[in-house]
Order: sequence, then C-alpha cells, then structure tokens
Amino acid sequence: MGIKYVEEKKIFHLDTGHTTYLIGLSPEGYVGHIYYGRRLKSGGSNYLLRMNEAPFTPSVREREKASFMDFFPTEYPAGGVGDYRESCLDVRSASGSVGCELIFKEYRIFRGKPGLAGLPASFGREGEVETLELVCEDALLKLEVTLSYSVFADTDVITRSVRVENRGEEHLKLEKVYSACLDMDNREFEMLTLVGSWARERHIQRGRIRCGKQMVSSTKGESSHQEHPFLALVTPETTEETGEVYAMNFVYSGNFMAQAELSQFRQVRMTMGIHADYFCWNLRPGESFQAPEAVLTYSAEGLGRMTRNFHDFYRGHLIRSPHQYAKRPVLINNWEATYFDFNSEKLLEIAREAKKAGIEMLVMDDGWFGKRNFDDSSLGDWTVNEEKITSGLPDLVRKVNEIGLQFGIWFEPEMISPDSELYRKHPDWAIQIAGRTPAQSRTQYVLDLSRKEIVDYAYNCVAKILRSAPIAYVKWDMNRQLCDIGGACLDRESQGELMHRYVLGVYEMQERLVTDFPELLLENCSGGGARFDPGMLYYSPQIWCSDNVDAVERLRIQEGTALVYPLSTMGAHVGDCPNHIVGRNTPFDTRAHVAMAGAFGYELDITKIAEEERAKIPAQVEEYHRYQPLMQRGDYYRLASWSMEKPYDCWEVASKDGSEALVTFVQVLAEPNVHSYALRLKGLLAQAEYVLEGTDQTWYGEELMQCGYLVLSGQGDFRSSRYHFVKKQ
Ligand code: GLA
Repeated sequence: MGIKYVEEKKIFHLDTGHTTYLIGLSPEGYVGHIYYGRRLKSGGSNYLLRMNEAPFTPSVREREKASFMDFFPTEYPAGGVGDYRESCLDVRSASGSVGCELIFKEYRIFRGKPGLAGLPASFGREGEVETLELVCEDALLKLEVTLSYSVFADTDVITRSVRVENRGEEHLKLEKVYSACLDMDNREFEMLTLVGSWARERHIQRGRIRCGKQMVSSTKGESSHQEHPFLALVTPETTEETGEVYAMNFVYSGNFMAQAELSQFRQVRMTMGIHADYFCWNLRPGESFQAPEAVLTYSAEGLGRMTRNFHDFYRGHLIRSPHQYAKRPVLINNWEATYFDFNSEKLLEIAREAKKAGIEMLVMDDGWFGKRNFDDSSLGDWTVNEEKITSGLPDLVRKVNEIGLQFGIWFEPEMISPDSELYRKHPDWAIQIAGRTPAQSRTQYVLDLSRKEIVDYAYNCVAKILRSAPIAYVKWDMNRQLCDIGGACLDRESQGELMHRYVLGVYEMQERLVTDFPELLLENCSGGGARFDPGMLYYSPQIWCSDNVDAVERLRIQEGTALVYPLSTMGAHVGDCPNHIVGRNTPFDTRAHVAMAGAFGYELDITKIAEEERAKIPAQVEEYHRYQPLMQRGDYYRLASWSMEKPYDCWEVASKDGSEALVTFVQVLAEPNVHSYALRLKGLLAQAEYVLEGTDQTWYGEELMQCGYLVLSGQGDFRSSRYHFVKKQ
C-alpha cells in the first residue's frame, strides 16, 4: 500500500486498501490517467493511455497533436492547446493569449501530508498518509504546476490539490484553476448529486449521463442550498451494496463546479474545482496560487461503502474539534420558540424548564444585539441589547449556568445591515459594485472579507463577546448569498479575486476562533444548510442541517446529507407542531428519533408544549447519550429509503466490531394489510447471537442480516421505533 514509481514503465502506483490509481507519462511528458478502481495486485501498464490510436482524420496514420490532446486521458488538462473537453487550468499570458501546455518535470513521494496555506485540508500522521507531488511546467509561460495526491490507505481515499507558481517575469492571470479531474471510459455511468433549496437541502438526484456537459455548481459565494460540491458517477446497477462508485467531494465553502462530461469518444471527464465564473486571479512573478482540496473515493461495493469511506475519512482526517467524539450537550435553541421576541426573563424561564427536563445547554439565537427586533437591522453592531438582556450578558450567562445549563450564542459575523451603526460609519464595507445600488437579501449586505481590517473588526466583535462571559457554544450563521461582486479596495485587475478572497477571509476568522477558544463548540449554519460542506467541517464538528425540522422532511434531508457526512455532524432538533415550515403534525417520539440521527437538541418553547411531551424529554436526552458513542463511531447503513419509494425509512448504525447495532424505523405512511416488513440488518457477525434489548428474543447475526427482523406494520402515519441489538457474551 502507498505510492511507488516504476521508472521503466513511467507509472506511478497509488494503492489504498481496496483501490488502485495509476498515472502514466507519455514520451513527451504529458501526465496521463491510466486507471482508477478496484485494487490491482499485479503491476500496471500504460496501454490504457491508448497513445498509438490514429486520429479521426483518415489520411493521418500516426499520432497528430490536436486529436491526440482531445483524446488522451489526462490527469490535469490545461486549456487552449487542443483538448476541447473541460479544462482544469486556463492561463492568460501577459500578451493576452490563453494556452498552457503542461509537461512533467519531476516528482516527490513522501510520508505525511502538508497543510494548505489558508485553506481547510485533511490531515494524517506519517504512518497514515503518503503524498505524491507531480511537478509539471509550461516552458513558455514559466509556470510550474504541482499536482498533489495524498493516499489514505485505511479509508480508500485519495485527496488531490493543485498549486500553481509563476516562475517567470511576466504577469499571468489564472482564469480557471480546478482541483481534480478523472478521465475514464464511459460505463453507462449515472450521475448522483445532492440538490434542493432552502428547507429541502441535499435531496439525492440520480440520472444517466448524456453527451455533453452536465454539472452542479454554485456562484453564490457559498456552497449553497441548491447544489452541492459532491458528485458521484455510478454504474447502472449500483445499489447500497453492489455496483461501482467514483465520488468526489470538495473541501471548500465558496463557488464550485462539479461536472461530468461525456465526450465524442465515449470517454467521461469528471472535474471539480472553484467555479471559473467571476474568478480571475493575478499571478505576478514569484507568486503562487493554492487550489483547494478534492476528496476522491472509489467503491466496488455500492453506495454504502462510499458513504462509510467518507464518514471514516472525515471523522479521522478532517474534523479537528475536540468535541468530535466527546459527549455533545443536548441544547435548546430559542429561535422557533420566540423568534425575535424574547428577553432575559423569557430565556431564564426556558432554561429552568429545560433543566428540569435534563437539557444541558441554552442557545440564545438571533435578536440579542443592537436594536434587532426583526431581521431588518443591526447586523454588524455586536453590542448586547440591554433592553432585552436587561442585566447584561455576563449576568444572564451566570444565571443560566447557575440553573445548571451551559450557554451558547448566535452570530452572523459576515453581514452588515443597511440599518446599522456600522453601515452608517462604513458604507463601503459592504460588497457592492461602485455606482450600482446593491441588492438586499433578508434586508442585509455582505461584508467585504477580502479586506483585512474588516476581517479583524468582525472577528474581534465575536471574540469580545466570548471573552465577556463563559460561553460554551457558537452558532455561526450566514443568511444571504453574494451578488454585486465588487470590492472597494481591489483595483480593476483584482476584482476577479473577491469571491475566493471572501472565502479565505471566512476561513481566517474561523481559524482564529478555534485557536483562541479551543474549548468552544462551534456549529456552522447558513440560512439552514447552505454551507454544509467539508470546508466548514474543518472548523466545526457539527453544522445546522436545515431550517426545516419537520420529521418527514428531515428524512430526505438527512439521508442526502449522511450519504457523505458523518451523522455526528448533522445539527438536528425537535421542533414544535404543527411544523413552522410545512404545517405537518408528527408524533413527539418520531421527531426525537429522527433528530437523534444527528447532533441532538430542541427548538421549541418548552414552557408551552403539552405536559405529556415535556415529560418525555428526560428519557430522550438519556437515550441520545446512551447511543451517542455508537452513533459517533459506528458504521452507518441505509436499510430502506422513503424518498426512494418505500412507505418507510430505516437506517442502522452498527459498531465496527459488530457487537451492537441500533436500528431506527419510521413508518411514513401507514399501508393497509401488509402485516410486517422484514428489515435486513448489516454489519453484524454472522455466527454471533444477538438479543433485542428490552426483550429476551435472540437471533443469529446471519438471520438478522439474511432473513431480516420483522417490524409489524400498523395504523397511523409518521410512527417510529428503534431496536437495539446486542451481541450475547
Ligand atoms: C437562519 C438560521 C436559523 C436562525 C435564523 C436567525 O435562518 O438557519 O436557525 O438562526 O437564521 O435569523
């Protein structure tokens, strides 16, 4: 396992536990993609580069450059030199032409993996990861391009990133720098993506790829509610357990592009990177540009294996927070309880009731600062509103702590309200195009975080509040997308850098936050789940999944989210009924069972809900904690999917050693006269005996896995149940 270079064949071998990735060099030094897939035990050869196939022009019998370039499976296509498929790198020279030809120069193989300056990136100890750097150059532009591949053998993941350096004397412009490309023969691939909208984020979408380009992308300045920086190509028969899956996920929180392109020769090019729209980066002599990281995994065992690769990889190699495996406090958030209409007394009333029910943290959401009594003012004025928080924040936190709860707080540090002291003082701090009235969204503008003084201001506002009282948790929100892209301090040459610089500014603030407050539990959020991406997971171990807490809607949202991200990362709360977004009534138990799939909490006015619901909370809190270690570390299996036409939804988490498994079943719509459903479990030990907790019934693992556990269908919609199977000693 690991990386090796076979000099005679000019082939680089990248091996993980179950996969092999082969890179070959053409005689000219083009870097070609030979193979990615199931592990090859024998050596590889480069015949798949098909270097001797004649071009399409009948009169030409040998290789001719233009048609060769348009056919050669390549690791990193540069635009303008004959490859008409999607390029990954477009460079404009000082004279204004676009064209770049990358020729292999040298390589380095080493243990470990360096970080990426200013960007989130996966990590691993020396024994866990090896890195290959392929250095290519364009001799005319004097441009050096380093392709980095890091091989994480234990999780079948290869990460890729790219660094571009100007070693010449001319001012170059990078008009596109993607992070990864995968050229393969088409195998009737289907494209699986995560798409949606506010309140219905990350629904799974799957369909056959067709000739031409099909993509998901964002130019909204964040990874977005609508499309997600994830792309999988799957063979047609792919199920949870069978079929081949090639997946890419982008460790970035801004504009992205993830694309599959089916070419004239039935080859597929899969690409991922920062979206080229609105992007143009100046690369002056001596400067370099670091593109973010893409995470690649291959599974020969269907989507389930892909999911578990991602989960293990993110848990082990991306999330840094000390809270990742720690006991996460069950919180109560006042947003859906009060919206903007609260004061200290109301919060303390909630805290007292919450304490009685065993809840462990109170989170004060939007509305505690400036004169913010609605969503139309005060962003940027991060001073406590003492008309609402009457005796001041330190006193409120002290009282909440005395009740026995930790205290958490909401911020939206990246924003500025037109109606704010900050805007009146610094109108040019908002992103805007000079001379044009910028569009408001939720009555707010976005701060220009490409400017250091604004990053400092916004960060210091947050830090000052956190230093004023023992605050254990921050919900970091971002409630609008970017447009009118103009920065007052960028010259005309540099306006195309703004959107990436904005994201770098966000990363800098969050890096400072987790460095200065290492114990803080940070939860990212963006108008619900618009910035649920691997970039954010580097800073926060949990992210608010969606503003929609309806138990049925959440089944779909959480299924799509957990396709890629560990359960412990999904912020999930029990809301009140009728649900505030869809108006649906679901049982309190079902709401809790669905929310317990993620980082659990409540978002309702506990002082007002029915007594019988309140009475259930202590047992729910206890249940969440009992299974939390299993949920944080175990293997996740989708047993049945309501969104894929089943009347019920069902998922399981099994411990890695097969000693226990927890199954959650949700009967979405009751079906007449079907008697019972057989749930076929996964991840157990075939010959071990399991007892269903709370009963004396036992089964062998193979029975549960091959024959199934029978759940009676019954009357009533939206009912749920949980089953904990424990291996007998
Ligand atoms: C966003 C968040 C919500 C809440 C509101 C407050 O919509 O997703 O949870 O914090 O902002 O304005």
